[in-house]
Amino acid sequence: MSQDIKKQTILVVDDSTENLDILDSILSTEYNINFATNGKTAIEISKKYMPDIILLDIIMPVMDGFEACKLLKKDPLTKNIPIIFVTAKEEDFDEAKGFELGAVDYITKPVSSIVVKARVKTQLALYDQKRELTRLVNERTKELNQTRLEIIRKLGVASEFKDNETGIHVVRMSKYCCEIAKAYGFNEDEAELLLNAAPMHDLGKIGIPDVVLQKPGKLNDEEWEIIKTHCDIGKRIIGEHKSELISTAKIVAYEHHEKWNGKGYPQGLVGEDIHIYARIVAVADVFDALTSLRPYKEAWSTKRAIKLVEEEAGSHFDPKVVEAFIKAMPEIIMIKNKYQ
Ligand SMILES: [Fe+2]
Ligand SMILES: [Fe+2]
Repeated sequence: MSQDIKKQTILVVDDSTENLDILDSILSTEYNINFATNGKTAIEISKKYMPDIILLDIIMPVMDGFEACKLLKKDPLTKNIPIIFVTAKEEDFDEAKGFELGAVDYITKPVSSIVVKARVKTQLALYDQKRELTRLVNERTKELNQTRLEIIRKLGVASEFKDNETGIHVVRMSKYCCEIAKAYGFNEDEAELLLNAAPMHDLGKIGIPDVVLQKPGKLNDEEWEIIKTHCDIGKRIIGEHKSELISTAKIVAYEHHEKWNGKGYPQGLVGEDIHIYARIVAVADVFDALTSLRPYKEAWSTKRAIKLVEEEAGSHFDPKVVEAFIKAMPEIIMIKNKYQ
C-alpha cells in the first residue's frame, strides 16, 4: 500500500467491492485509503497500519462489523481509533447497539459524497484533538513526576550533607537497593520505586542536633537514644500521602534500622513484619557504610564487607535478601566503582 505520510489514513471495510470503489472515489483525493473485505482482515490491518479512522460495514462474511468493532475497542492498541458504521438502509441498523459498541457515528448506504466527507472530517478533527490532549497530559504528567522525583532526591541528599557526607552515599545505596530488589525477584517498576524512595531513609537526621550527629567521639547512651529518633522524625517529615513513592519512602525511613532477629529499632519488629523494602535498604545501607571512608573509620574492602553481611544473615539481615545481595554483586561492584 503506497501511503502519503502527510495524509491521514482511512480503513474502509466492506465485502462489496462496488461499495469500496465508491468510498475510494469519494475519499482518496484527500486521504490514504486501506481496504478490507471482512472484520477479521480489518482488525489485522488496523493493528499493522494504525489507520486514523475506520469506515465499517456491518453484514460481512467471516466476521461482521459489530464483532470487529467490539474486538477493536477491546484491544488497547486499537481502542481509540474512531469507527463509523456504514449501513444499508434496508439493513435496519440498530443505532443503539452501534454506539454502545463504541462507534462514533454511522452513515447510510447508498452514501452521499458530501455526508461521507463531512462526517469523516469531523471525526478525524476530534480524534486529532483528543490525541493532542493526551500527548499534552502525558508530557505534563512526566514533567510533574520528574520534578517530584528531583525534589525527593534533593531531600535525601540534604539529609546526608548534615551527616558529614557528600550526598553520594544515598546515590550509591539506592542503586544497590534497586539491584538487590531485582535479584530478589521484584520487577523493574517495583525496583525503581525503591530506587527513588531509598534516598529518604535518613531524612530524619535533619531533626537531630548537630552536637550529637557530628560528635567526633563515641556516643553515650543518651546521645544514642537521640540518634535513634531519626527514624520516627523521618516518618513524620514524610507523612501521609497516597502516592506510592511517598508511602514507600515513609516505610523505609521508619523501618531501615529494624533487624531480622527483632533487636533493631525503633519498633523491634521481627522477620517478615519488617517491610521487605526496609529489609533491602538495611543491607544496602550497611554495606555502603562499611565500604565508605568515614572520619572515624577506614573504608573496608568489598570482600570484608560482604563477609560481615553474610555473617549477619539471619540476625541483622533477612537471609533471602542477603542471598539476593550476593547475586547482585557484579552490578553492585560496578555501581561502587562508578560512584566513588
Ligand atoms: Fe538511618
Ligand atoms: Fe544511610
